[in-house]
Amino acid sequence: MKAHDLRHDSATGHVTGRSVYVNDMEAGPGQLVARVVYSKHAHARITDIDFREAAGVPGVAAIITAKDIPGKNQMGPVVHDEPCLAEGEVSFAGQAVVLIASETEEAALEAERLIRIEYIPLDAVLTLRDAIAKNNLIAPPRYIRSGDAASAIEKAPLKLEGMLETGAQEHWYLETQSALAVPGEGREMTICASSQNPSETQAIVAEVLGIPRNEVDVEVRRMGGAFGGKETQANHVAAWAALLANATGRPVKIHLFRDDDQIMTGKRHRFLSKYRTGFDEEGRILAYEVELNSDAGAATDLSLAILERAMFHAENAYYIPDISITGRAYRTNLPSNTAFRGFGGPQGMAVIENAVDRIARLLKKDAASIRKLNFYGIDERNQAPYGELILNNRLHVIYKRLLLSSKYEERRAEIDIFNGRHRWKKRGLALTPVKFGISFTTAFLNQAGALVNIYKDGTIQVNHGGTEMGQGLQTKILGIAAAEFGVSARHIKVSATNTSKVPNTSATAASSGSDLNGMAVKNAIDTLKARLKPVACAELLKAGAKDPYHDGIVFAEDAVFATDEPEIRISFPELVMAAYLAQVSLSATGFYKTPGIHYNRETGRGNPFYYYAYGMAVSEVEVDVLTGMYRLLRSDILHDVGDSLNEAIDIGQIQGGFIQGVGWCTTEEIKWDDNGRLLSHSPDTYKIPTVSDIPEVFNVELLRDHPNEGTIRKSKAVGEPPFMLAFSVWLAIKDAISATGGHRFEPHFSLPATAEVVLLSIEEISNRIKNRNEMNQSTFNKEEGNP
Ligand code: MTE
Ligand code: MOS
Repeated sequence: MKAHDLRHDSATGHVTGRSVYVNDMEAGPGQLVARVVYSKHAHARITDIDFREAAGVPGVAAIITAKDIPGKNQMGPVVHDEPCLAEGEVSFAGQAVVLIASETEEAALEAERLIRIEYIPLDAVLTLRDAIAKNNLIAPPRYIRSGDAASAIEKAPLKLEGMLETGAQEHWYLETQSALAVPGEGREMTICASSQNPSETQAIVAEVLGIPRNEVDVEVRRMGGAFGGKETQANHVAAWAALLANATGRPVKIHLFRDDDQIMTGKRHRFLSKYRTGFDEEGRILAYEVELNSDAGAATDLSLAILERAMFHAENAYYIPDISITGRAYRTNLPSNTAFRGFGGPQGMAVIENAVDRIARLLKKDAASIRKLNFYGIDERNQAPYGELILNNRLHVIYKRLLLSSKYEERRAEIDIFNGRHRWKKRGLALTPVKFGISFTTAFLNQAGALVNIYKDGTIQVNHGGTEMGQGLQTKILGIAAAEFGVSARHIKVSATNTSKVPNTSATAASSGSDLNGMAVKNAIDTLKARLKPVACAELLKAGAKDPYHDGIVFAEDAVFATDEPEIRISFPELVMAAYLAQVSLSATGFYKTPGIHYNRETGRGNPFYYYAYGMAVSEVEVDVLTGMYRLLRSDILHDVGDSLNEAIDIGQIQGGFIQGVGWCTTEEIKWDDNGRLLSHSPDTYKIPTVSDIPEVFNVELLRDHPNEGTIRKSKAVGEPPFMLAFSVWLAIKDAISATGGHRFEPHFSLPATAEVVLLSIEEISNRIKNRNEMNQSTFNKEEGNP
């Protein structure tokens, strides 16, 4: 089996149930279960906490509050504005106030029932509009500007302005937030975590316990999905479990109930964005001004980095000479919003994609052709608003191929005919591009470490700082190690991620897990191979080779040999044993940092990305005009992953990312009541896509023969970019709505486009048709699509 054909390391384990998750782990007979008691108020003063009665429940081992925290009461990852347990005040419904550890879950629930927390409710900010009105900024605004957008819009022959609201999104990882804390000797604490960021989990646990980091080991075998939701917020359960383990001296496990997880944790940031654009009669965008406003929730978390990525993707795939991008994050009394696949990119891109769609409708042109007209150029028109040059632009090749393979033009004509013949069913079609910057935009995070051990039997253990969340990182790393060592994968084991093996790692995020850790692993392997080569030369000489030399040694087919004499070989295990006897170290660390990236926040300029990933999708939907329901008939995707590290995994990431994006764009709607309590906190009120929401025809292709120079085995990151291909579905729905008015009116639209939104939008168009018939005059040029 070739390295890039390896099966996902958990494929069999997941199907048979043998894959181990935190909740499957047992640390011994003394292990306790934990329960987190959280606030029911969005904003309130705590006047009293009484748990005397609860403490008497048989089986309860400990009940703790903020004042029992031995270290710092804080778990904010970047800004220290997030208490570990509420102290004096709660700032969102779902905030942890009291922790219980007990022998059984029943005892914990009984104790929870008996705990009395007295609150005095305070005024709460629950909507983004309210936060904006109150100027509740979480940090000063940020800007990226190029040229003079305001005067270019003034001078432009045509202009549009509008507003777009995009919704929150629940991660819905199948494994809810979990952690197992096991106290050791003295101050030692081991955490079995479900965290994308074990080093940060280690740091937060050390901080709340008031101990140094070298006392804390964090291990992550795998997560049952994360999607950004375990980049910072997995630290919380780990910190709570550690506090209880420390208080009781016994292992403590936390595994949140689904509803609690949904209520307590942050989501994708809601955005309310305003834009103005100027363009010419051809549809060429001359200028764009956008204000991106996000709902950060109660604490900073990663909101500023997410806002920044939204800003970096505000123009998506389009070259816009005069552009002004403003980003503002607002504090509200809701759980702190956090990373979610795309990390703000989707929120920034949705605005421009909707604007381009409006331009096309206004000019009565096909939207795909307007997109093409505005794509970044190859050697000109290729500078991003922040100054980076867009090199190796693959938008044009993808567009050309996808237009053909999806039969875009033919289907456009067929859909027009269909829509002419059907009154109560309308079809829509849309092509949308994605250009996604790869790298952490906080430049120093672009580093990774590895530790590779070879044992005397010739087997290899690979450790690195990346974590497995289902995306197939461990399988890709296994493939990389097998290819670099020239040994078959069955002799290699990729271990669980552990902070004591590879320290000070960055989160597995920004889609850069394989880019960074793959390179670090290769670096360690290069070191080991350099040490093994002299041994190989000596052994090959002994075996009769004439003139083996260092640079001519090949590692392949589980052996080493000289290029000139491939028939004389030493097996890999023999080589390893010879090296051991020759007192050569068989263990090496590896390190990698991405070269040449920098960004200056003050000036809004720099080269924040090492390269870009590209993709495009064409989607077709059918909308039921009477109910607003829609079906996804077909999606064609062509996506660029460079030279794939593992084709099955990459295609899986594209399919999964796309469908997760379809969920955000269509059915996933998060609602809070007037008191800031989450209404959609279980699968019966929150609708993620299911197998029946997959397009009836689903063609996913990788862009072939486009290696990416300068990355691990010429590959590209794939985890997040396909998420945003879902705009093709969103805008296909809009196209179908538009067809109900003969494409003469701009539909009122937002994201998600739930059936309700679609129906209201259709109704609104039919009202406009009636009004116009009554007034008998054409006004559509002045009409605004969004309120
Ligand atoms: N795929 C699965 N199956 N589960 C996940 O949790 N997370 C996504 C993506 N794909 C995720 C996933 C997110 S948000 C990111 S940033 C990347 O995987 C992280 O992994 P990578 O850097 O190794 O691609
Ligand atoms: Mo992904 S949102 O960068 O964890």
